[in-house]
Amino acid sequence: MALASSSGPSTERAWWRDAVVYQVYLRSFADADGDGIGDLDGLRQHLDYLVQLGVDGIWLNPCYPSPQKDHGYDVADYRDIAPEYGDLATFDALTADAHARGLKVLMDLVPNHCSSEHPWFRAAVAAGPGSPERARFIFRDGRGDDGATPPNNWSSIFGGPAWTRIVEPDGTPGQWYLHLFDAAQPDFDWTHPDVIGMFDDVLRFWFDRGVDGFRIDVAAALYKHPGLPDWTGGHYNEYTHNRPQVHEVYRRWRRIADSYAPERELTFVGEIWVPGVADLAAYLRPDELHQAFYFDLLKQPWNGQLFRSSIDGALTGIGSTGATITWTLANHDVHRTVTRYGIVRADEPHESLDRNLAFIRPRGEVDTALGERRSRAACLLLLALPGSQYLYQGEELGLPEVLDLPDQVRQDPTWFRSEGLDPGRDGSRVPLPWTAQAPSFGFSPTQVTAEPWLPQPQWFVKYAASEQLKDADSTLALHRRALRVRRDLFSTVDRAVTWIDVPGRDDVLAFRRDSVTCVVVFGDTPLRPPAEWGSIVLCSAPVHQGQLAGNSAAWLHTP
Ligand code: GLC
Repeated sequence: MALASSSGPSTERAWWRDAVVYQVYLRSFADADGDGIGDLDGLRQHLDYLVQLGVDGIWLNPCYPSPQKDHGYDVADYRDIAPEYGDLATFDALTADAHARGLKVLMDLVPNHCSSEHPWFRAAVAAGPGSPERARFIFRDGRGDDGATPPNNWSSIFGGPAWTRIVEPDGTPGQWYLHLFDAAQPDFDWTHPDVIGMFDDVLRFWFDRGVDGFRIDVAAALYKHPGLPDWTGGHYNEYTHNRPQVHEVYRRWRRIADSYAPERELTFVGEIWVPGVADLAAYLRPDELHQAFYFDLLKQPWNGQLFRSSIDGALTGIGSTGATITWTLANHDVHRTVTRYGIVRADEPHESLDRNLAFIRPRGEVDTALGERRSRAACLLLLALPGSQYLYQGEELGLPEVLDLPDQVRQDPTWFRSEGLDPGRDGSRVPLPWTAQAPSFGFSPTQVTAEPWLPQPQWFVKYAASEQLKDADSTLALHRRALRVRRDLFSTVDRAVTWIDVPGRDDVLAFRRDSVTCVVVFGDTPLRPPAEWGSIVLCSAPVHQGQLAGNSAAWLHTP
């Protein structure tokens, strides 16, 4: 199938269209000052690792001042850096160091909500009902004679009600405020001009400092149904997501980005969970966001047919907008690929929880070795597809999810708000192992004041980056090779994909791009690739007598 590939002459060849961006969960990446928490200096010390890995840029999870109730997604000041991570000078040094190495820097923007410690929210609570300060948030009186029932039935995405009642300044039980996530994350009222204006300024603040773009957190949420009616339609609340007005915000932000020099090639990438690909494509119109994660593929279990129809959905549904597709298989909110693809017997999530959990954070019996083979195959698949990719830190090491963190160390608000029914996301956020050396596998320096903020299991030693660098067959080595070969083999002009059917093998997914055939064997039976596919340039598992192993992938090339 041929893909349209232009959304206007200025962005046709922009770096982000085919980039591989590495997601840095800063808190868990590398700790330079020994407090057990990753920081900007720790990241600066490892930039060469990222250059050698071969990525084009980094996306930093939020590093603004924050009470860290949702690890940075509760922002108390949008124009500063959290002291535990550094300060504005360290941030500027990081950007300069990254740019000197040819790496772009994307920040994470959180527009739906702020922290309950943000000065605006504190002022809103202090100012009382009906005040202009409250109008920047969604405060309402409760229902019932005593106002003790929440204003409507909406649920928090983290569990429990989406409303919390405050105590008024005079000490009486008062109004309720809306929070789609934790109670420490009050939602802004995006119909208020102050909110719109503040985010304009925030964008300019960071663009002026040299940032190359933003990942936009829960980008579909911002506007709520004005009447705040009860929602009775299942887990995806259409009164809180994907309201038509939200597109105006992205048109406005696009104009801001476009007001900078075109050579900057600034970009926005939306975190947009919407039911269908047509809804997603709407955000990618030429005057809106440049990119939006295609999460549909991330939700698929290890099955060739399901992967193919999901990829096809993106190629037709997004390719036709002129945007390139933004692929990703992992991030700080979902279980790591090794664990997801290694599930051999799944437990049903509790009936009160979102069905999506069965796909994004499945639990059950895991065959880690099998998951690792599949995750390596998925790496080659993703890197062969046209478009950009976001690679979550630690995926290049083949790290499994840490499923058995003790309850007392868990920090994710989903764990608390679901009363333990959803163990949450901490297991994908355990600090990285850099070396084989105890106590922190090189995450913190030897002189430390604290343990890593989440405990690393002993088996992390096997995944240490330093050890994998010595092994030509390691998952890290595979990523480095694949990223290098990708640059050489795949065109960024012609992004057409042609599927190849392999008779009798429904479990095999194969397609051609330019002179390369990418093949993934989802089943266990080996496959002998036909001669016309060319010779193997890269494979995710050893090839025996010309046969690709089950649960592996390869790139073949015809000169
Ligand atoms: C997004 C983030 C997630 C965060 C939530 C609330 O989904 O990826 O980590 O908890 O938004 O900001």
